[in-house]
Amino acid sequence: MAHSAEAAWDRVIGLAREAGAASIRPLMADPSRAARFTRRAGDILADLSKTSVSDTVLEALLELARARGVLAARDAMARGEAINTTEGRAVLHMALRGPRGAFRAGGEDASAEVHGTLEAMRAFCGRIHSEGRFTDVVNIGIGGSDLGPQMAARALWRHGMPMRAHYLSNVDGHAWEAMRHGLDPARTLVLVASKTFTTAETMANAHLVRDWLRGALGEASDAHLVALSTNLKATREFGVPEEQVFGFRDWVGGRFSMWSAIGLSVALACGWDVFAALLAGARRMDEHFLSAPEAENLPLLMALAELWHVDGLGYPSRAVLPYDERLARFPAHLQQVEMESLGKRVTLGGLPVARPTGPVVFGEPGTNSQHSFMQLLHQGTTPVPADIVLIANPDHGFEENHRQLLANGLAQAEALLRGRDASEVRAEMEAKGMSPEAIEALLPHRLFPGDRPSTTLLLPRLDAGTLGQLVALYEHKVFCLGALWNVNAFDQWGVELGKQLAGALLPELAPGARPGPHDPSTTALIAEIHRLRGG
Ligand code: F6P
Repeated sequence: MAHSAEAAWDRVIGLAREAGAASIRPLMADPSRAARFTRRAGDILADLSKTSVSDTVLEALLELARARGVLAARDAMARGEAINTTEGRAVLHMALRGPRGAFRAGGEDASAEVHGTLEAMRAFCGRIHSEGRFTDVVNIGIGGSDLGPQMAARALWRHGMPMRAHYLSNVDGHAWEAMRHGLDPARTLVLVASKTFTTAETMANAHLVRDWLRGALGEASDAHLVALSTNLKATREFGVPEEQVFGFRDWVGGRFSMWSAIGLSVALACGWDVFAALLAGARRMDEHFLSAPEAENLPLLMALAELWHVDGLGYPSRAVLPYDERLARFPAHLQQVEMESLGKRVTLGGLPVARPTGPVVFGEPGTNSQHSFMQLLHQGTTPVPADIVLIANPDHGFEENHRQLLANGLAQAEALLRGRDASEVRAEMEAKGMSPEAIEALLPHRLFPGDRPSTTLLLPRLDAGTLGQLVALYEHKVFCLGALWNVNAFDQWGVELGKQLAGALLPELAPGARPGPHDPSTTALIAEIHRLRGG
């Protein structure tokens, strides 16, 4: 690491060790703080003031970003350089939503490829919708070939839209068992979504569903099969008609692929205009990310706040709390985008990282989260920074419900910040006429430490445009963190070992098979499974 980057890191860590570094309430005494720590990017307002990032800390963090060359790295990504060094690939999901002629990868015009596919997808959607023969679309895929489109379809689908979308991801046969009864094969279009077209779970489910189609429709079932993949040879071998294959390139990472052919289920279910607006929304955030200076660049600022929490203050997790039921799968999508990208223990150069990297990300929509895990955020031992996503205007007429929803989202952020001290708690219990002994016994249980960080993201409404902006914001935040931590945010070697071991274990679970060499725990479990399954 360059000397200046080391010095910048030392400065950040030094500030984090100062007394009171984690305190937020004293910073709030500054009446200008809320405005000064709020940024707008496109339609998104982000309030970072309820964190302990002070002016001095922000300055040090921005210095670190400059020393680490984050924006220069961003430009290298946009130029199509092979920044995914362990796989020798460019990282060009921005090209998927960019204008014609904007992006090149290696010697080729990436944008031309993208727009050709978009045109084919648009024509296909137009045909399917005008024929009106299909009512349901089943997307078979997992990870990035499932989470992004599923999240978006759930967020954007409204009654009256062209088709219903279903997402089959888990190899657990119960998933298909539960889904198939609601489907009429004659009216169902099946998309096999897999970048590699080799993922075991997806291919197992693809065979199940293809058999189901063939059993019901015979030869005619071919017209029901669509493939979304980079592996055109494998899609051909699987029997998908060539005109029903929509491709993309290896410079699209799986967890960044919802903007590619992998998003076809969203376009089919919600309509082409919705999908186009989703891309345009993401493009709007790209433009912000590509042009805003460091101190105004929202993805970078969110990355820096996260680095402060993870490396400075030692907070190992983060909660994502969308106050919108339609964003129910947003935390799950972010889990892959963030944890598969940033769950890394070596630098780009292959050396152990000096400091913690990606935090554990989890979440659920509010208000449900308040009745499950928020207790730990308020009174647990280690602070968990929370991203609170609020939508100002709902798409329903139940005004009172929506005000309650917003009130709760705001209240959680306020409660995390201000906490509750002994005098307040005592006064409340005294007003209830409780005895002094009972008050003293209960007091420690009812105290809230406060000073717990949150970032509030406020969107005017949830539609394709704002959702595109929101998702792209997090994608770029991840990019910035990868650059700050000097890790490759675009590979995922950590998922390989489990896949290989599952492949080796599979034959050992056949009736009468003998277990191979394993640790004693695994050997005993295999034997017990055989016993329980009667084989
Ligand atoms: O197992 C991890 C992973 O490789 C993800 O990165 C990817 O999104 C997912 O599997 C699915 O891969 P594919 O689209 O190739 O089926």
